[in-house]
Parts: sequence; structure tokens; C-alpha cells
Amino acid sequence: MSSSAPDDGPRVALERARLVPVVVLDDAADAGPLADALVAGGLPVAEVTFRTPAAADAIRAMADRGDLLLGAGTVLTPAQVDQAVAAGAGYVVSPGLSRAVVERCAERGVLALPGAVTATEVQAALELGLTAVKFFPAGTSGGARAIAALAAPFAGVRFVPTGGIGPADLADYLCTDAVVAVGGSWMVPRDRIRSGDFATVRRLTAEAVALVRPDPGRAAGAR
Ligand code: 3PG
Repeated sequence: MSSSAPDDGPRVALERARLVPVVVLDDAADAGPLADALVAGGLPVAEVTFRTPAAADAIRAMADRGDLLLGAGTVLTPAQVDQAVAAGAGYVVSPGLSRAVVERCAERGVLALPGAVTATEVQAALELGLTAVKFFPAGTSGGARAIAALAAPFAGVRFVPTGGIGPADLADYLCTDAVVAVGGSWMVPRDRIRSGDFATVRRLTAEAVALVRPDPGRAAGAR
């Protein structure tokens, strides 16, 4: 496939953060207060999903601040890759593996994190030149045990498990070397964002961070 080398920076930053808040924003005006809450909670990272029309504007608003690593989530088409990159997304996440999306990411020089939960899907990702995938939906696809099993034949592949994960599951996932970071929406509940309750978002974020990074100084410079 024709490509420029994707930037490994986002992957390193995700590994440092250990957690990825998966966000659904109904109103791009919430992007600023959400970013404030995430930064204050010690997690300057967000995967903003293309599940609402506000996604691109929200990514742009958060990326323009310069203090967060921004991923675009639920990217299903090459056109959405273009929108995400134009808005300032540093990496692109898809629920499944799309050759067209992965190839557009390579052309645009951004890291692609497509979903893969079976050996066949992981092998297909490898054939597209990838060495990291989203393991989605993690909870119903075998969880941490399935990742450990896949890591045996695919020793160089890293996973970002997401979907159906809560604070109680974090240790199981993060004790596996093959896991880069764990994604989830529990620290950024859509209804809390919609109602402007960013104090709760900040608290949930800080609680999650405390579980995975007892030393909050490690979050510094995640971007
Ligand atoms: C995703 O898009 O990755 C998931 O919807 C997030 O899953 P969760 O809401 O179960 O955390």
C-alpha cells in the first residue's frame, strides 16, 4: 500500500496515559469544559467519536488547545478520516477493520487503530502494516484472556481494549504487556456532559487515573 509512515507519537502517548476516555459529544460547545475536566483529572487524552455531527468541531476545539492528545473514534469511511485529520485528530479509531480507512490513514500520515478481535482480523491488520489494534468490543469478545491468547502467536501486536470495560476490570487488562491502554466511556458519561456536570467527569477521571497511575506526574506531556 502506498503510504507515509504513521506517527508513532500517539501510540507512545497512549501507552503513557494507560486510559482513553471515549467521548460522545452532542454539542461542540461542551468540548472546552470537557477538555478542562480531563486535564484537571490528570488524563489529557480523548477519543471523540463520529457518532454525532458535533464530532469534527469538538475535535478541532480540543486539538486547538494544544494540551490534549486527540483521537477520532467511530471512523467508518475515508471521508471521515479526512474530516478527523483536518480537525486535528492525532490518530483514528474504527470499531472494525476497513482497508479503505486504514489506507487513507496511512496516506494522511496518522495512526490507525482499527478494531480486531479474532486471529483472522489481527492477521488482516498485520497485512495492512499495522502493529496495534483496538480490541472491540472487549467485554463480549473474551476480555483480557482473549488478548493474552492472541498475543501468543502475534507477539509484536499491541491492543487497546475498549467496550464494556469498567474500573473493576482495569487491572486484568493492564497486567497484560500486549495492552497499550484501555478505552472506555465510564469516566465521561454522555448524560453528565449533556447536563454540564463536568465536576463529575473530573472526579470519575481522577478516580480512574488513580487506579492505573498512582503517580499522576506520569500523565504530564501526554501529547
Ligand atoms: C467505544 O466506542 O469504544 C465504546 O462504545 C466504548 O465502550 P463503553 O461505552 O462500553 O466504555
